[in-house]
Amino acid sequence: MYKKTCTSQVSIAYSDNNFNFFYLGKVFMELIKGISFGGFLVSLLFFNVLVSTVFGIGVNWGTQATHPLPAPTVVKMLKDNGFEKVKLFDADPTILNALGKSGLQVMVGIPNDMLASLAGSVQAAENWVAQNVSSHINSNGVDIRYVAVGNEPFLSTYNGTFLATTYPALQNIQSALIKAGLANRVKVTIPLNADVYGSSSQNPSDGDFRSDIHPLMLEIVKFLSDNGAPFTVNIYPFISLYNDPNFPTDYAFFNGYSTPINDNGRIYDNVFDANLDTLIWSLQKNGYGNLSIIIGEIGWPTDGDRNANLQNAQRFNQGFMARYIKGTGTPMRPGKSDAYLFGLIDEDAKSIQPGNFERHWGIFYFDGTAKYQFNLGTSSKGLVPASNVRYLAKKWCIFSPSASLDDPQVSPSVAYACANADCTSLGYGTSCGNLDARGNISYAFNSYFQTQNQADTACKFPSISAITTQDPSPTQGDCKFRIMIQTTSSGGGGGSSSSSSSRSSSGVGFLKKPVSMMLFMFMFFFTIL
Ligand SMILES: *[C@@H]1O[C@H](CO)[C@@H](O)[C@H](O)[C@H]1NC(C)=O
Ligand SMILES: *[C@@H]1O[C@H](CO)[C@@H](O)[C@H](O)[C@H]1NC(C)=O
Ligand SMILES: *[C@@H]1O[C@H](CO)[C@@H](O)[C@H](O)[C@H]1NC(C)=O
Ligand SMILES: *[C@@H]1O[C@H](CO)[C@@H](O)[C@H](O)[C@H]1NC(C)=O
Repeated sequence: MYKKTCTSQVSIAYSDNNFNFFYLGKVFMELIKGISFGGFLVSLLFFNVLVSTVFGIGVNWGTQATHPLPAPTVVKMLKDNGFEKVKLFDADPTILNALGKSGLQVMVGIPNDMLASLAGSVQAAENWVAQNVSSHINSNGVDIRYVAVGNEPFLSTYNGTFLATTYPALQNIQSALIKAGLANRVKVTIPLNADVYGSSSQNPSDGDFRSDIHPLMLEIVKFLSDNGAPFTVNIYPFISLYNDPNFPTDYAFFNGYSTPINDNGRIYDNVFDANLDTLIWSLQKNGYGNLSIIIGEIGWPTDGDRNANLQNAQRFNQGFMARYIKGTGTPMRPGKSDAYLFGLIDEDAKSIQPGNFERHWGIFYFDGTAKYQFNLGTSSKGLVPASNVRYLAKKWCIFSPSASLDDPQVSPSVAYACANADCTSLGYGTSCGNLDARGNISYAFNSYFQTQNQADTACKFPSISAITTQDPSPTQGDCKFRIMIQTTSSGGGGGSSSSSSSRSSSGVGFLKKPVSMMLFMFMFFFTIL
């Protein structure tokens, strides 16, 4: 038996045990289940064009990074790798400008915190569409196909915060698209976590929408159907495994499972299919069995948890892609689908509230280098990395070889570094989990130093840190002491120290202050520990 962690979650049993099958929703920990598939029920013509070509895979482009690659570099990566579609989480004009005339189909997003204003005012929705859709289509040549209204707004962890505003916002955006004359080419949708539905048994055929939002879901589904718009769902088998130590590992992947579920003759040997078909049953039961479904997010992280590593991510993503390329559907909906991988690039500034893995969902590292062999079916070369990436200088900040592990400055310094940079590759089962104590400290110091653009002041932990030009990364394994890339937003001065003064606004100032301040702050923290 797994433990229920939230009331809305529904369990599904497989074979003789009860397990929660599904997770759903990477952004917060929730257990649930979901489903999905791609589809378009727009005009028949549009539909025919799409099905007559291969459904190209899409990818999510998130930007919560301290050192994002320049937008034109990312757009080139998308094209070099044969992605046909990209899903954004907002409507950043820099990104949309870079996507102009790229040929890529774009889903723009409306963040949850904008839903209330868009729900309350048709004019606000018209302004949003004018500024963030019409202008980019008309003057920039951006091929916007979808507007994602909110992002997983009905997650149980939001306590209903967006329940009242999401559907009105959806309606207002649709009205605004109609008024702008774009309703035939741009479709609305709501990327939902798979916790909006569940099954009362092990079988997808017992699926239905979550009881607390059932009437709302039906209104939304009807609205989507009436407007030829798709249902978008995010499905995360990784979270099933993360949340439940008894979850059968093989069931999370696509290589077969020894005791598959038999749902009245439909056989499920992976949780993705079971989850997606639970959605399809939920739709069918309520009269919308033909609604198009897009998988808004699907992927596997590579670090930050014992199940998050390069091998598992490769296994999951390649397993998914192989089915995608072949057009294998689910037992309930065989055939081609529409999906967006999550995600393109690691984001080192994401909240780690859901878990340390949260910063490691990329197919590519933060600098646009490929993590593993991955065949997207678009090129024989495998993944194509970002080109012309400019790095900071080849230097690292480490725990000084002459410093003692017993130095009282060590704990607060590490805590400070990790709180202001990224230490999610440290810990049990992670890429740098086998470092010794000195290596651990060095990793933390370097992470902070790089995040601060190698400012000299960012390697001045009181007499226990030192700068080195020797790569401290272990020679074996996947643990890498990284060097950050130059970014326009953070100064990007070619790695020379002369430019560091111009970067003080990016946070270098932290350590210019007497370290006693940070000692004070973090002593407290460590006393608790
Ligand atoms: C367009 O989108 C951006 C980013 O999501 C947002 O900040 C801006 O307010 C939007 N424009 C309007 C008129 O709402
Ligand atoms: C939801 O409610 C829980 C428990 O009452 C609370 O801890 C949490 O902060 C709330 N979350 C949000 C997003 O309001
Ligand atoms: C669903 O689509 C199938 C195949 O196109 C069609 O035969 C069926 O009538 C449709 N059902 C509904 C409820 O629209
Ligand atoms: C290194 O740091 C990680 C994460 O803080 C910790 O779990 C591990 O025990 C540390 N290893 C050593 C040898 O100190």
